[in-house]
Amino acid sequence: MKPALIELPKYLDIRGNLSFVEEDTQLPFKIKRVYWIYDVPGGEIRGGHAFRKTQELMIALSGSFDLVLNDGRQDYKYSLNRSYHGVFIPNMMWRKIENFSTNSLAVIISSTDYDANDYVRDFNEFKKLTQC
Ligand code: TYD
Repeated sequence: MKPALIELPKYLDIRGNLSFVEEDTQLPFKIKRVYWIYDVPGGEIRGGHAFRKTQELMIALSGSFDLVLNDGRQDYKYSLNRSYHGVFIPNMMWRKIENFSTNSLAVIISSTDYDANDYVRDFNEFKKLTQC
């Protein structure tokens, strides 16, 4: 599977806008876990790993950041700054999240429970695994 930018529904309202995500209509996986990344100091880079099995959707709920994915062959770059845009991240994608704006909030919807063994943290190992 390839990464994809998913446009989430949005209800524009003079009282404020509303967006949502549902597993059956917008996601190719069942939701197991939600986590978020916040209070990232300027210049920090998160990620630097891939998941063997986990698939995710990443949304910039607030602020902005860049998500750089690599499938072992090419980069896929996304500048996220809309709370109604999510990036579907298939498994076996190296990820880097960078250029966080002040007060940015990344929310990640995940297909699995946390499992340290699902991480590939060595880029050379990742490259080898993607060439199989
Ligand atoms: P990590 O996935 O390395 O963060 P990032 O990819 O954003 O740089 O996670 C950082 C730490 O948080 C790591 O020690 C494991 C822990 N963690 C959990 O305990 N549960 C979770 O659901 C996640 C995502 C991380």
